[in-house]
Amino acid sequence: MINFEALYRISYGLYIVCSGDKTRGNGFISNTVFQVTAEPPKFAACCHKNNFTSELILKSGAFSVSVLNQNASSDIFGRFGYKSGKEFDKLAGMNVKYGDTGVPIVIDESIAFLECRLVETIDVGTHLMFIGELVNAEMTDDSKEPMTYLYYRKVKKAASPKNAPTYIDRSKLAENQKYAFNKYECPACGYVYDEATEKIKFEELPQDWVCPACGSRKTDFIKL
Ligand SMILES: Cc1cc2nc3c(=O)[nH]c(=O)nc-3n(C[C@H](O)[C@H](O)[C@H](O)COP(=O)(O)O)c2cc1C
Repeated sequence: MINFEALYRISYGLYIVCSGDKTRGNGFISNTVFQVTAEPPKFAACCHKNNFTSELILKSGAFSVSVLNQNASSDIFGRFGYKSGKEFDKLAGMNVKYGDTGVPIVIDESIAFLECRLVETIDVGTHLMFIGELVNAEMTDDSKEPMTYLYYRKVKKAASPKNAPTYIDRSKLAENQKYAFNKYECPACGYVYDEATEKIKFEELPQDWVCPACGSRKTDFIKL
């Protein structure tokens, strides 16, 4: 038996992993960045094969990791975690610097960043695990704490989308734990959010989530 709730007990941080160059750069939110060796310092970043950033890492042979601060905004999660750079320029208007390898590094809402040269790519199925050797590491804001995945889920009450390796299909939770699906109704237009269909608990939707039919606020919804 697999109790999927146990998977939420694994600790992670939250990062923006970027790649590309000055002409076309892009990044995505990741919770799967970790150090794999000390000498030399190497880091792994796990990136879905469909992510636009995967293409850029393979092409440029480098990536950056910006460590998000604990109060990182829902805007930054919306821009980098729920939309693909295939559709628009995510770095437009952002405070970005370029590293020694030429990759963009997002400074906004970060406390530190790393820059890595790609040394190995491991195909792990749906995702590619990029292993990079550290070429640069700097602090950007020493006054703040890093954002953790637990804080993001519990305090920000947000979830992760399907491309995240840690995504949990709620129907699997249901099979294993008799999870109760609820429905929530928009009082303005009558739209019903059904957790059984959406596979994400209503309470785990970002706080700035709005009714897809009429734009009413999440806090206005009524539990049926
Ligand atoms: C909290 C959170 C954690 C995520 N972690 C990962 C991850 O570790 N690996 C991954 O491939 N996608 C992850 N994602 C999903 C990507 O950020 C998302 O699919 C993004 O839109 C891909 O952007 P791109 O196509 O521009 O590269 C995560 C998203 C969120 C909100």
